[in-house]
Amino acid sequence: MTMHYRELGRTGWKVSDISFGAWAIGGSWGTVDDKESMAALHKAVDCGVNFIDTADVYGMGRSERLIAQLKRERKEKIVVATKAGRRLAPHTADGYNARNITSFIEDSLRNLSTDCLDLVQLHCPPTDVYYRPELFGTLDGLMKAGKIHYYGVSVERVEEALKAIEYPNVQTVQIIFSCFRQRPADLFFAEAKRRRVGVLTRVPLSSGMLTGRLTRDSRFAADDHRQFNRYGEQFDVGETFSGVDYETSLAAVEELRALVPSGVTMAQFALRWILMFDAVTCAIPGGKRPSQVEENCAASGAAPISASAIDGVRRIYDQRIRPLVHQRW
Ligand SMILES: NC(=O)c1ccc[n+]([C@@H]2O[C@H](COP(=O)([O-])OP(=O)(O)OC[C@H]3O[C@@H](n4cnc5c(N)ncnc54)[C@H](OP(=O)(O)O)[C@@H]3O)[C@@H](O)[C@H]2O)c1
Repeated sequence: MTMHYRELGRTGWKVSDISFGAWAIGGSWGTVDDKESMAALHKAVDCGVNFIDTADVYGMGRSERLIAQLKRERKEKIVVATKAGRRLAPHTADGYNARNITSFIEDSLRNLSTDCLDLVQLHCPPTDVYYRPELFGTLDGLMKAGKIHYYGVSVERVEEALKAIEYPNVQTVQIIFSCFRQRPADLFFAEAKRRRVGVLTRVPLSSGMLTGRLTRDSRFAADDHRQFNRYGEQFDVGETFSGVDYETSLAAVEELRALVPSGVTMAQFALRWILMFDAVTCAIPGGKRPSQVEENCAASGAAPISASAIDGVRRIYDQRIRPLVHQRW
């Protein structure tokens, strides 16, 4: 298996262009089994993954603790990005203050069994947080205090990303980007490149839709966000199937199928398409099973997407997806 690596912003770290999204192993995606989750994490490292994205709220520490276990069991250097902020209830801009953020970080340090977090991302805070330089000052202070190596942001909207990277110590932006979410490529990618900011692309498979394996008859457990957040009931609707309604997604996937060359799966095609953008540092597909991880990691070494397939993806997006979602995030 060939894995390629890209510079992560100005951190000096080179990370796998297919990395690992550790939300599903924490919770909110139906039943999970820690033994299988550990096997999926080990498979990722076997495939060359050296970067894992998690958050304190993924299973309320469960995902972070599994990653701590992985780090104990492996000798390879693994960069772990976690997130802070979503434990706030209510989730308000005022909650993003020095006291709360510091205490969330202390908890992540414990869960990840470390003295210093590699990368902490603000976890999709309200837009107003980006207009509060004092919070970024707090994060600078936590760097100086040796609690965190670096910090970044996870955003919902392109405009939040553009605002966030005005702060000189924001190293990374995590944003939804896929065949079904293309607006970040318009303005944000050029600016991220200019400022040498790392770009982590989440929900790269549109919550599994871009694997081509979901159907009209697929059913999701009550504790799977694809069931309980389909219409944004719990958090931003854009995080589930990237905000594209299920039937529209299925129809677009059927059209995409014709563009997938032989020898690669649709999941690999969708991930390789993301890697065609050089502003992207890595895609962070989620996965609960080793077989999914292995399939996804193979996208790194897959052949580049042809110009005609790139045009095809654009056409399908423009015709079926853009009118519904392009201006929403
Ligand atoms: N606000 C935030 O900051 C935020 C929000 C969302 C996600 N994230 C991060 O981004 C990561 C990725 O996004 P995501 O997990 O929401 O969505 P995703 O990567 O688009 O989809 C992941 C899901 O697709 C299915 N899947 C993955 N590979 C597959 C394969 N090869 N074949 C068939 N099914 C496959 C799995 O679900 P099933 O097997 O159950 O179908 C998996 O849980 C997360 O894990 C998390 O780290 C961050």
